[in-house]
Order: sequence, then structure tokens, then C-alpha cells
Amino acid sequence: MLDTIEQYLKEIKSLSIQNHEELEKYRIEWLSKKGKLSVLFDAFKETEPGLRKEIGKNLNILKKEAEANFQNLKEIFDNKPKAENSKSLDLTLPGDMQKLGSRHPISILRKEVIDIFSRIGFVVAQGPEIEDDWHNFTALNFPPEHPARDMQDTFFIEKTDSAEGQNIALRTHTSSVQIRYMESRTPPFRAIMPGRVYRNEAISSRSNCFFHQIEGLYVDKNVSFADLKQTLFYFVQELFGNQTEIRFRPSYFPFTEPSAEMDITCQNCGGKGCSICKHSGWVEILGCGMIDPQVLLNCHIDPEIYSGFAFGLGIDRMALNRFKVSDIRTFFENDIRFLSQFSSLLV
Ligand code: PHE
Repeated sequence: MLDTIEQYLKEIKSLSIQNHEELEKYRIEWLSKKGKLSVLFDAFKETEPGLRKEIGKNLNILKKEAEANFQNLKEIFDNKPKAENSKSLDLTLPGDMQKLGSRHPISILRKEVIDIFSRIGFVVAQGPEIEDDWHNFTALNFPPEHPARDMQDTFFIEKTDSAEGQNIALRTHTSSVQIRYMESRTPPFRAIMPGRVYRNEAISSRSNCFFHQIEGLYVDKNVSFADLKQTLFYFVQELFGNQTEIRFRPSYFPFTEPSAEMDITCQNCGGKGCSICKHSGWVEILGCGMIDPQVLLNCHIDPEIYSGFAFGLGIDRMALNRFKVSDIRTFFENDIRFLSQFSSLLV
């Protein structure tokens, strides 16, 4: 019997199995219930007790060898396309590289903005994307007839008729998080609110029905418009470089008074004028203002003691210019060929 085992071992080692079919034949011949190994094991039961120790040891070696041979070949054939099965295995070939993922361009920019503000003490706050009327509109001083509440701008999820009932909608800006933040804290505080927002807008290469905002908020005693200007100036110089200038234009938001829109030197032409800045040399990047006293009151903050500023910017269009991308929709088509171009920008 020892001779048979030895002979079988040699046989197994000398086999050259090339594909799934041959491997299956091998399995049936050697490893199945009626295969050669089973026959040997049955015979083993009949052997003299004195010889069992040695035979048993060798039998186990044979069994392990036969099974390992099967497993190895199975793995190789399972991982190879059929056509290649017939070729023999070339162990000198270099291994397959595991593809690394990359950060999404919007995430790259968001992280840069968060880093810049965190250096001057702003923490990150988050809130729900499905919002109620109070946090998205009413607490922010939007009058009931304000057009932003209109179905044309807002994606409503549920409309209730009851007196206390609230409309539920996809948030149209992250100012809703500012309300949640102020409601649950006592000043002083400063925070930024990055997040996805939704607006029922026509989809084109420059605008989508959702985009990403980063809003910011600072409330303390004696906060003035000068603080707002200096904070945003610092931010712009950090993000776009020291040569970048800013300018403010008066504007209107229901929740800030006074309100402004801020432009920066066009990054494409350096302020000389080009098609991107419509030959003005300036590009608008954010809305801002001093928080309206009524909004502070809505959040149980005394406007006689505290004042604050707020600002909000969309980062998707910024990312278009920054990464020289021509269509905003490509950011969200999840095409690996597009997304993998940003892998060298891992931060
Ligand atoms: N919430 C405004 C928007 O979505 C931006 C903004 C935020 C303006 C804070 C002023 C102050 O357009």
C-alpha cells in the first residue's frame, strides 16, 4: 500500500491539467466518493494495526497534496478568462495593480475651504437635507409669498393643510443649518455648513438641480461688517492666492441686513477681462451680510447684545473653473474615466 501511495503522489505531481474540464475529470478520478483516494482509505481500514501509523501518515500527505492541487488549479482557472485557460501559467508576469480610488473634485474643493476656515476657528456643522418650512424659510425671514418658496424653485416633498402643519422640502440652501445651529447654542460661535442643496432649476452645463454650498456664520458681541470683510478677504487669498482682490456689491437676502454679493478678480484673465467674466474682470462667488436682528430673535439670541455675519457660496461652479471642466453635469455622472483624472490631486 505504501508503494501505491508513493506512486499516486508521483502521478499527481506529474499531471498537467490545462482547463476546467480536465480539472473536473481530475476531481472525479481522485477526490470523489468513488475516487482513487476513497478506495485507498477504504483499504486502509483493512490494514494490519501495526502498519497503520505509517500508512496513515502517508495517506494524509497524499490526500492533502491531491486537495491542494485541486484548490490551486481551481483558483487559477476561476480567475482567468476562458480563452487563456489553455495557456500554462507564467509566474514571471508582473501582478495586476489594484486600482486606487480618487477624491471627487467637489470633495477636494470642500476640504480646502473647510481647512481654510478651520484655521481661524470655524467648526463644521451639518443638518438634514430634508427640511421643514421653519428652518428653510420662515426662521430666515422669508415672507409667505416669497418666490423662493414657490414650487418652481423648491422641491416639496409633502404639503400639509393643517394650521400648524409644515411643508417638508429638500433644503434650498444650507442657511437652514445656520438656524439649527443658532437655535441650539448660546454665542459666541463660528461655524461653516457644507452640504448639498436642491433647487428646481433647468439643468444645463452651468447649473444643476442640486449643488453644494458652504455657508458660514459668526455670532458674538460687536461683530461688524469689517469682520465679515476681513474674514472673506483672508479666505479668498488663501484659496485663490495673494494677488486676488475682492469687491462687494449691495444686494438683498431676507435674512441679512445689510446684504452684499462678493466678487473676486477673475481667475481666468487676472482681472483684464475675458469671456468668463463677461469682460468685467470680476466673478461673483458668494452672498453675505449681517444677520438680520429678527433672525437672531427667531433663534432666541438677543440682538441687543449680539450681532453676527453670515455668508454662503456654491462650490460646484467654482470647481468648474478650478479644474477647467466645461460641463457641471460631468461631476455627477460617475464616469470613472472622468473621475480618475483627479487622482493626482489627492489631498
Ligand atoms: N443662502 C444664500 C443662498 O443660498 C446665501 C447666503 C448665505 C447669503 C448667508 C447671505 C448670507 O443664496
